[in-house]
Amino acid sequence: MGSSRVVFDRLQGRYAQRMEGMRSSAVRDLFAAASRPDVISLSGGMPEVSRVPAHTAADAAFRAVAHHGGQALQYGGSEGRVELRQTIVELMAETGVRVRPEDIVITAGAQQALDLLGKIFLDPGDVVIAEGPTYLGALQAFSAYGPEIRCVDMDECGMRMDLLEAELKRLGRGGAKFIYTIPNFQNPGGVTLAPERRRRLIELSREYDIPVIEDDPYGRLRFEGGHIKPLRALDDDVIYLGTFSKIFAPGLRLGWVTAPHPVLAKLLIAKQAADLCGSAFAQVTAEQYFGGSRWRKVLQGLTRTYAERRDAMLAALEQHFPPEARWTCPEGGFFLWVELPEFLDTHVLLAEAVERGVTFVPGDAFYPDRRGGNCMRLAFCYAEPERIEEGIRRLAEVLEDRLELYRAFIAAGALSVKKEEVV
Ligand SMILES: Cc1ncc(COP(=O)(O)O)c(C=O)c1O
Repeated sequence: MGSSRVVFDRLQGRYAQRMEGMRSSAVRDLFAAASRPDVISLSGGMPEVSRVPAHTAADAAFRAVAHHGGQALQYGGSEGRVELRQTIVELMAETGVRVRPEDIVITAGAQQALDLLGKIFLDPGDVVIAEGPTYLGALQAFSAYGPEIRCVDMDECGMRMDLLEAELKRLGRGGAKFIYTIPNFQNPGGVTLAPERRRRLIELSREYDIPVIEDDPYGRLRFEGGHIKPLRALDDDVIYLGTFSKIFAPGLRLGWVTAPHPVLAKLLIAKQAADLCGSAFAQVTAEQYFGGSRWRKVLQGLTRTYAERRDAMLAALEQHFPPEARWTCPEGGFFLWVELPEFLDTHVLLAEAVERGVTFVPGDAFYPDRRGGNCMRLAFCYAEPERIEEGIRRLAEVLEDRLELYRAFIAAGALSVKKEEVV
């Protein structure tokens, strides 16, 4: 691409139709602003990789090449190395899920798994059910295949089963291709699906014959409360996605899928077409890293760090944010969700926030239909506590400017305020 901002596109009109349904990721778009040293990033869900000791990671990478170079530097099987799949078996057993290496396919992060699942399941017009709001990377991955994504609202206990049931009744048996859910510390909502709702979700999935895709990147990052078993522990038919991105490093691009064998067989074909096989070097490095015991201490330290940052964000919101705002209180993970008065447009707020040196992700990025315009996702995983407090203070200033106008309307006796009068 040239340096000019307006690029003449000679291929206009030749792109595949599926590109029309695809949007650029709001988080990626914010990457440049969020990377400026003067800007406090509350936008991206970037793990604090500086807490992974460089020498431990370097040691694992060194051993991968020094002792397993013949394999680490070579192509490998599309399903991934059996040694790493054995490591995953052990990791999953600790969360209450029993699987075998042959039940697992390694992917380039959970993100590739989402894309491959879209590829094998979705035709244009198919219905997918997801939480509303939901992970924008899933919206991006699925939307390439042209489905209609229907969102089910959440409350503080996760996806509402009464609303899900009503949606399933409307659609009828087999009326959706799958139900996509992030039960633990949901991205972007920050809420966790309660145990009784997990059981109900499995019952409904069986009753309506619609498979569940469980995306679980944050399950091991719990700050408080007891562990809740994954959906996969309740039903072997659940398609479960895991990742090393949050428990080791996203730079490895390593995730996995465990699913019934017919699904894995299709997934493997799709994976072969996508990249032949995953990075053997990354896989052997992960085997070396998880082969030792140091990673447990590192993960404990990381979780403590995120908990401190969550606390800092909640305290700052309490102190600085206006009474009209509401937010979730996550028990783990990276994110919380803020809801503002209906008439506020968080895109407009974002432009002002970036000027004041703070970023967040506007809420509509997490819906397929541009709902959520008065909401924002805040990430507490990345900035230091003092920066979080300063970032929230700056955001509160932006909000305050907007709200003053609103309050003036109310004081003047206006019954309602139209969005366009304030933005
Ligand atoms: C819910 C969810 N699923 C999947 C992913 C993708 O993770 P990975 O780095 O494993 O591709 C993320 C990353 O933030 C996520 O939040």
